[in-house]
Amino acid sequence: MSVLSPVAKKRSDYRAPDFLIDHVDMAFHLDVTQTRVISTSRFTRNGQHQSPLVLDGENLQLISVTINGEPVTDYHQSDEHLTLNINQNDFELCIETRINPQENKTLEGLYFSGGAYCTQCEAEGFRKITYFLDRPDVLAKYDVTIFADKTRYPHMLSNGNQIDKGELDDGRHWVKWQDPFKKPSYLFALVAGNFDLLTDRFVTQSGRSVALELYVDKGALDKGHHALASLKKAMAWDEQVFGLEYDLDIYMIVAVDFFNMGAMENKGLNVFNSKFVLADAESATDDDFFNIEAVIGHEYFHNWTGNRVTCRDWFQLSLKEGLTVFRDQQFSADMSSPVFNRIKNVQIIREHQFAEDASAMAHPIRPEEVIEMNNFYTVTVYDKGAEVIRMMHTLLGAAGFRQGMDLYFSRFDGQAVTCDDFVQAMQDATQVDLSQFRRWYSQSGTPKVKVTDSFDAKTGVYHIDFTQNTPPTADQKVKQNLHIPFKFELLDEKGNSISDDSVPELSAKMIELTSRVHRITVTGLQAKPTPSLLHDFSAPIKVDYAYSHQQLSNIILYSGDDFARWDASQRLYSRCIHNLAISPDTPDDELLDSMLQAVQGIFDIADVNPALAGAMLSLPSFETLSQQVDEIQVEALYHAQRSVRNLIATTLSDQWSTLYHKQAVVPYRYVADDVDSRRLRNLSLSYLVQAGAPQSSDILLAQFAQADNMTDCLGVLKAAQFGELKQFDQLMEQFETRWRHDPLVLDKWFALHANMERSDILVRLPLLLSHDKFSLDNPNRVRSVLGSFAFYNVLGFHAVDGSGYKFLADYILKLNSVNPQVAARIITPLTQWQKFDEKRRELMRYQLARIADCQDLSKDLIEKVSKSLN
Ligand code: PHE
Ligand code: ZN
Repeated sequence: MSVLSPVAKKRSDYRAPDFLIDHVDMAFHLDVTQTRVISTSRFTRNGQHQSPLVLDGENLQLISVTINGEPVTDYHQSDEHLTLNINQNDFELCIETRINPQENKTLEGLYFSGGAYCTQCEAEGFRKITYFLDRPDVLAKYDVTIFADKTRYPHMLSNGNQIDKGELDDGRHWVKWQDPFKKPSYLFALVAGNFDLLTDRFVTQSGRSVALELYVDKGALDKGHHALASLKKAMAWDEQVFGLEYDLDIYMIVAVDFFNMGAMENKGLNVFNSKFVLADAESATDDDFFNIEAVIGHEYFHNWTGNRVTCRDWFQLSLKEGLTVFRDQQFSADMSSPVFNRIKNVQIIREHQFAEDASAMAHPIRPEEVIEMNNFYTVTVYDKGAEVIRMMHTLLGAAGFRQGMDLYFSRFDGQAVTCDDFVQAMQDATQVDLSQFRRWYSQSGTPKVKVTDSFDAKTGVYHIDFTQNTPPTADQKVKQNLHIPFKFELLDEKGNSISDDSVPELSAKMIELTSRVHRITVTGLQAKPTPSLLHDFSAPIKVDYAYSHQQLSNIILYSGDDFARWDASQRLYSRCIHNLAISPDTPDDELLDSMLQAVQGIFDIADVNPALAGAMLSLPSFETLSQQVDEIQVEALYHAQRSVRNLIATTLSDQWSTLYHKQAVVPYRYVADDVDSRRLRNLSLSYLVQAGAPQSSDILLAQFAQADNMTDCLGVLKAAQFGELKQFDQLMEQFETRWRHDPLVLDKWFALHANMERSDILVRLPLLLSHDKFSLDNPNRVRSVLGSFAFYNVLGFHAVDGSGYKFLADYILKLNSVNPQVAARIITPLTQWQKFDEKRRELMRYQLARIADCQDLSKDLIEKVSKSLN
């Protein structure tokens, strides 16, 4: 590792900026290798002090500096700053810099890819464009003029409204944009290129007409309709649910193929990874359609939660992200199946967020220390952050939450604020005491609630105790009790919910846990009830209760909460799998029988609630199972999961066949009923293939030949891959020939290859990486090969000889100098070595140490590697 370890910034070190900027005028003379940027900013000194002006800037070639029109030479330049000694309190600073967009492979700042210019400024990318106070609490109005060749770059976009344009004699043209809203630099955006344009309009609730513009690659126009329709739904939803209206006359979205993340909420000019924009039936799956709607919603909702009210500093990231994820989850739930959506949210928490808590990267949703901010766009900040907002929604009720939101906007519109400000608004609007609740912001780790109960048949008295405990995490040893909304019910023998007016928690179907132990007593009962726990996953915690198999079956059939029914099914599967992993030679037949019976029952649910049944018929993922044990026995757990699935596949193959054929094949439409039906069809197919059921490969080949949509086509490939069918390679070849030209579909092809559980996977991977369509410069491609392998190829990545780890490390070292942000993301599985057996822990740490030894390691990797080696 480099001798000079970068220093961490601490949340507690926050200081208000020494200077403020209220207006910026920027001119961009675009050139592929030599873009000139001239920025003129109006500064005022913030408070009484003599401190110099320290501007952020990276990789900039400085051409000139003037203050109030006078040239300045008395400045100091370092790798990261430009420092000026200035006496005035108000002044205009004009800086000219030069940058090289083509060479910029980090995809942060201004970059050139796919023939277009594009910017990405969050979190700290604006400083790669010009010297500036690149921090979210400096809010300014921007005027931006762009100059470039007219034929190659007919579209030149920036935030706000286009206010002027013109042409020059030399074939160039210029466009001037003005954003009437103050914003932090991370929301700045510029795009220039030659696109196809899809337009529409939205009339807001107050009657203003907003122009909607979607810019896509030439020829991709037909794939933009779903995104645009989703945008209109999101705009209407935010008006209905939160009374929030769009505030500019134009809303632009640009889809690009080279993007580090999902999308970016730049004011009035969202930039999207094309994966979350482009879709048609043939090339996109139901999941793709779903994700597009969700991400379009997410970025749109940021206009209020993030843009109008922004973050004071980056430690407050969850202020905008947790809240906006919560909003997009609510939106998705309202657009389709609420329970299916909730299950998806919970799977992310259980597979990835719990894993993060268990690793050296554990942090609270509001981190205390950061070396590289890009490393903190995490499942903890985003998804656990959304769970924390959801808990407030639960505690305050929908109406109370809305009052809190209204107060938040009336207090803080146009400002950069903190998570505390948000919670305070929620509290002040409702008078609900959230003082203990605030600990969720500062405490990391996954809380556990242990539930124990006892019943006295003679007296009819039932006690149930809830005991909370948060185990220590890598970043924080001592934990406090949290305020946990815990939804539940008690079921009697017939499956009815027990009510008792003298027990308020029972009527409310919720306990607010605040102390370590909480007891409830219910009297007058005939028999011991079944507790159905953590309805709707009302808190991001683990629950431990010794359910009998019978109790789980009861919950599956009778609980009033669909989420709890699904959860009980998952508990039953998990129990079977762990059991078999521990003693593969002496299976617990009674347990397996009751599981199979439960599955029988779920087939009946498929008729009434196909979304729920689809989720209930899927086994817990390897990642979820891993978070349920202290030490992961890779092979044993993997094979046990397969065996249980195999048992369900073979024992119930007639039922799978019936379920498969029950699903009517209709021309593709992305509507809820059809989505549920396709999910059941492809799930059945995969079980049939796994069971090697008669005719299963005929069915599979027929589906491949007839499918008019990517969901059914990919369903075939996944089933063939998982079932290790001999036809798999040939189907993949056909698929490649057909889709070579379509990068998003080709990503699916790469991913299917990379997560194949085959013993020769490490011979096949290098072939994939030498494929003419593979490129380390393209994050989607890197994720589809290296990401899929490291996150999901269990046996390949965790090969006992360490070859999977070495393979990943080799590529991380290559990626380090190309795109550090992506490198630091796909290193995650290596940093989660803590739960593996000793041999694997050693091997994983060995590769981390190899990476640490690299000479020019990026800050991104230094932070993650050094934490994981501690
Ligand atoms: N703010 C973006 C979002 O959540 C994510 C993002 C972060 C994109 C950093 C790019 C860079 O919607
Ligand atoms: Zn976001």
